[in-house]
Amino acid sequence: MIQVAIDGPSGAGKSSISREAARRLGFIYVDTGAMYRAAAVFIMQRRIDPDDAEKIGAVLPMMDIELRYEDGEQKVYLCGENVSRVIRTREVTRCAPIVSAQPKLRQCLSQMQQEMAQHHNIIMDGRDIGTVVLPNADVKIFLTASPEVRAQRRYKELLEKGMEADYDSVLADIRERDYYDENKPISPLRPAADSVLIDTSELDFEHSVQLVVDTIQNGIKY
Ligand code: DC
Repeated sequence: MIQVAIDGPSGAGKSSISREAARRLGFIYVDTGAMYRAAAVFIMQRRIDPDDAEKIGAVLPMMDIELRYEDGEQKVYLCGENVSRVIRTREVTRCAPIVSAQPKLRQCLSQMQQEMAQHHNIIMDGRDIGTVVLPNADVKIFLTASPEVRAQRRYKELLEKGMEADYDSVLADIRERDYYDENKPISPLRPAADSVLIDTSELDFEHSVQLVVDTIQNGIKY
């Protein structure tokens, strides 16, 4: 099976680029951020403090997260319930980084991700895929863009959705998330030593996808 690991900071376009690259290559796409978000929903539903390692450890055996592919789209199920929408809410976005700092939870999700990678040709995106989850991946990509460009894209996206937005606070939010991701004690965000760095600051979506697809095709040893 071919394993492609794509890591990078939030807002670099990892998910949309990875999804489209996987579609073009006929690979399965696995969004591990969605799994951490579903884990956050699981903890929130049980009203457990996301910092409470002991309580989280105790309920982990009951946590059933499944990624299903319906009409070519990835849907996230938590204990049989479709949570694909709720995982994108602001509350879950706030809780996910705290929950994702729990070592036992990371271990549990990493194992699930490793199993998924045994059965399909996959592109898996996240923060620690090339460094921790799939250290022997065939191709590792670190996908990034400057904080200003990521903030600009996010700001535009919010305006297009008709939401109120302020560029400076979007940028501050991105910087804060970067700091958190890069400095978390367990699995901090960093490029794997053998990863290919792709900076999309100057690239549009189509060029980014093409570069990722080319990098994967060049890196695969058939
Ligand atoms: O990529 P995202 O914003 O959907 O990720 C949600 C959260 O999960 C974010 O706080 C980073 C975290 N995450 C992680 O710790 N490890 C991963 N492999 C993927 C995401």
